[in-house]
Amino acid sequence: MKNQSAPQITVLDAGGQYCHLIARKIRDLGVYAEVRPSDTPASELRDRIGLIISGGPDSVYESDSARIDPAILSSASAVLGICYGQQLMAYNLGGHVRKGDKGEYGLAVLHRIKPHTLFDGLNGDSQVWMNHRDQVESVPPGFEILAGTETCSIAAMAHRERPLLSVQFHPEVVHTTEGLRILSNFVFGVCGCKKDWNPKDRIGPLEKEIRTVASDRNVFFFVSGGVDSTVAYTLCLRALGADRVYGIYVDTGLMRDGETAYVSRLFEQLGATAFHVEEAEGEFLGALQGVCDPEKKRHIIGEQFVAVQERVLSTGHFLDGRWILGQGTIYPDTIESGGTARADVIKTHHNRVAGIQKLIETGRIIEPLASFYKDEVREIGAELEIPSEFLHRHPFPGPGLAIRCLCSETESPVKRLDPGWLLPIRSVGVQGDSRSYRSVLALEKLPTDELATTLVNRMWETINRVVGVVSLRTAISEMRSTRGTLTPERLARLRHADAIVRRLSEASGFEREVWQFPVVLIPLGIDQAPDSIVLRPIHSVDGMTAQVVRMPDELLRRMSDELLSVDGICGIFYDLTHKPPGTIEWE
Ligand code: XMP
Repeated sequence: MKNQSAPQITVLDAGGQYCHLIARKIRDLGVYAEVRPSDTPASELRDRIGLIISGGPDSVYESDSARIDPAILSSASAVLGICYGQQLMAYNLGGHVRKGDKGEYGLAVLHRIKPHTLFDGLNGDSQVWMNHRDQVESVPPGFEILAGTETCSIAAMAHRERPLLSVQFHPEVVHTTEGLRILSNFVFGVCGCKKDWNPKDRIGPLEKEIRTVASDRNVFFFVSGGVDSTVAYTLCLRALGADRVYGIYVDTGLMRDGETAYVSRLFEQLGATAFHVEEAEGEFLGALQGVCDPEKKRHIIGEQFVAVQERVLSTGHFLDGRWILGQGTIYPDTIESGGTARADVIKTHHNRVAGIQKLIETGRIIEPLASFYKDEVREIGAELEIPSEFLHRHPFPGPGLAIRCLCSETESPVKRLDPGWLLPIRSVGVQGDSRSYRSVLALEKLPTDELATTLVNRMWETINRVVGVVSLRTAISEMRSTRGTLTPERLARLRHADAIVRRLSEASGFEREVWQFPVVLIPLGIDQAPDSIVLRPIHSVDGMTAQVVRMPDELLRRMSDELLSVDGICGIFYDLTHKPPGTIEWE
């Protein structure tokens, strides 16, 4: 990194959700890029080699929509308009923008019409990602059409002589397969930029930004021990010093064995001096007493988080002007389609706390990781020397063990249903785009995942999940659903089982082969042993889909032997359902 005060590329922010992503992609190419408001005067951008006008939610025809200083279009800088940026360019130079009502959202195939440096190295048609309502209907004088899609005849255009070009699609998102090459062609081919930035040098500027945003105020975080909040917290710690950064961890009583002690140790190792565990087990378990319905459980947990955060905020003096809130929000959390649907719900709950809302509205929030993806967050964490054991932990759901401890108010027997047994237990699944809540089919031998998939497809009106028996204390025909709710006793049973699984999984190296490994307690058994355990190791990239992972037989045998010795456990099952049609968690 050389000269940050004079970046070669400036991204002009027209309000698009991908604006920071554009700058980040340019930096990944080795060229420092900054983000400025779209209407930054051309006089302040004079020494930029290239300017990129980002997408945005507006229509050029609205009186308060994002604008540019038209002088940038006659300056010496090359200009690339993206999405709304293309429309702004056309509008300012005498082209015509058509107001759309339906728009075009999602994948499209880009057909190139004229060769251009922007598309150097692309072979044939390529996939692009569109997200727009209005579109350019006729190009401005001096421009030519470079490419189109089936529904957008001007998907890219360029001036014949001057370095003014634009695209209607989003080259910065991964769904545009050649997007990085297109950006690279703009930066190096059109602009002629030189590399001046090492993406590894991102920590310095992040810390600088934190110091600028925080100014003389302190930062507090609600931390979970998860990767994102830990890395964001550590960045603030480094930027501001330990006495200016406060971490609060809420102990819900729904955590895994030793989790609170683990998180406390983590924060101690990070050098936190102001770290506080807010005990809330009584409140959470009290509110969940006797509740069986999965969605009710989730709702109550969300409400409890709200209540605890309100309490901390109102008693901790955090609402005075000396404090701002730090959050570990990462890039996918900021876009609607990303993240996980339910994680979003939980986050919405958190964000809805009145105190936090007030901080957001008054700009008292700092999210240093908001333009990074998970893998980059892990890289940053490694550069901050956060030990790898903390950075590579499996994701753990906000509602904790509550959604892995299934409950039942009734007792019913298992039923024979060819080719297995229908368990009187329901779990959540995802079929099509909708949620399902159906029974589980258990096979006495571990089926292949192909067979499990075939069975769910064939019996989808009855079941959404297939498990195989690993080991039982009794004949499966003797088993029934047992009455059980979220009692401390059952949570302790699950915690014990989960600790066994994690110990063996870590020792054997299997833990590193899987993306996540939920252990689920189901109220299925006999009087003396009322519960059973389901093992659910999966592989995934982002949690949106998941594949079953089969563990080595020897490990499975040792695990199940040890699990069956846990007091109250009647059987061990292996979940062989991919997502879809199952979800990763059972509730
Ligand atoms: P599902 O069960 O929907 O889970 O396939 C996908 C991923 O999301 C995690 N998950 C959550 N994470 N709060 C979270 O922070 C939640 O409420 C929540 N529910 C599910 C789940 O562990 C998996 O990684």
